[in-house]
Amino acid sequence: MNVPSHYQSGFGNEFASEAIAGVLPQGQNSPQRVAHGLYAEQLSGTAFTAPRHANRRSWLYRIRPAAVHQPFEPLAHATFHNRFDEAPATPNQLRWDPSPLPSAPTDFIDGLVTLAGNGGPAEQAGIGIHVYTANRSMQGRFLYDADGELLIVPQLGNLRLVTELGVLEVEPQEIAVIPRGVRFRVELLDDQARGYVCENFGALLRLPELGPIGSNGLANARDFLTPHAAYEDVEGEFELIAKFQGALWSAKLGHSPLDVVAWHGNYAPYKYDLRRFNAIGSISFDHPDPSIFTVLTSPSDTAGTANLDFAIFPPRWLVAQHTFRPPWFHRNVASEFMGLIAGVYDAKAEGFVPGGASLHNCMSGHGPDAVTFENASAADLSQPHVIEDTMAFMFETRKVICPTRQALASPQLQHNYHACWQGIGKHFDPSPA
Ligand SMILES: [Fe+2]
Repeated sequence: MNVPSHYQSGFGNEFASEAIAGVLPQGQNSPQRVAHGLYAEQLSGTAFTAPRHANRRSWLYRIRPAAVHQPFEPLAHATFHNRFDEAPATPNQLRWDPSPLPSAPTDFIDGLVTLAGNGGPAEQAGIGIHVYTANRSMQGRFLYDADGELLIVPQLGNLRLVTELGVLEVEPQEIAVIPRGVRFRVELLDDQARGYVCENFGALLRLPELGPIGSNGLANARDFLTPHAAYEDVEGEFELIAKFQGALWSAKLGHSPLDVVAWHGNYAPYKYDLRRFNAIGSISFDHPDPSIFTVLTSPSDTAGTANLDFAIFPPRWLVAQHTFRPPWFHRNVASEFMGLIAGVYDAKAEGFVPGGASLHNCMSGHGPDAVTFENASAADLSQPHVIEDTMAFMFETRKVICPTRQALASPQLQHNYHACWQGIGKHFDPSPA
């Protein structure tokens, strides 16, 4: 595999990277004096005593410690929050059109809008579901999220995520994960940007177990890319924004906090190209559960019951015989938020477009619309069918997903979504076949 020179390959590896050769201490983490007058600082993403396989921490060697900033003050943000109790959770099927792109100057933070969520940072469980739209880079300000790691799913426009541990460039059909606490700036590489963000309050995302699939398949560890160290030695008037217990806080600081010259450890941002996902499905009959498409999972305290599963529905062949090939009608104890990154989703004929979203909560019936059902019921199953030009995803979570007041009041909410199933006719005939 070709790993671009500014990335390191692997998932959860013990990485090591230095922007100036010789900075990393040999044989220890915090010598009395760090080379080049740098400060040593540990960043812990799990409890100190977490089991070794789950333990995540990195050592940063930086120009100034993260502690150097003015006191934080509350920072108002009208649309980005973790208030998931504003409106009664609804069993209705919900769907939204894409958020309109802004005309006023809007950076990544300005353009964050919370659609839904469950749990919260105080209980260290659940997820926040947000969308972003932006038309300019963050300038002079930096963000970190103490409440959870951020899974960023671009749908429109390429991003450069300049983080403490290095630079990630992501485009639609790639994803990036910024660990809890890591400071970063989002720059736009195109005029406009739009996408989805899942804020994971629970256990860190990891690769799912593969069970009988074996040692390969789904998302392969070597396709995850972590940046090399890159630092800014810049002084000036800057703003550090903290997301802390559901709200934003702002502090002044006189330098860029992206001043880590070298680091080592296994707690770091990463990116992944969804087009590298090795999709696995039925080659006989029937349709596996969508867990077969899990890219990353955040386990809960109950085995096999995820706080968050991030699954995708990528291009793939459908070959199953004697089978209704699209996703079946179903109800699920877990709750499902879906988005579409590109193309067309095979379970819906219309209404679910790139940048849009849908929410099917615990035990809410859903599945193919009437047109898709009729077409699939009459399809010629002697021929394989290839689904191309598509990339949908799902945030699936064990607890009910509560839409925010602003999501329910949004002009993009489709009030006629339920109509897509109303054309499903009665075909029952009790007489002998
Ligand atoms: Fe579903």
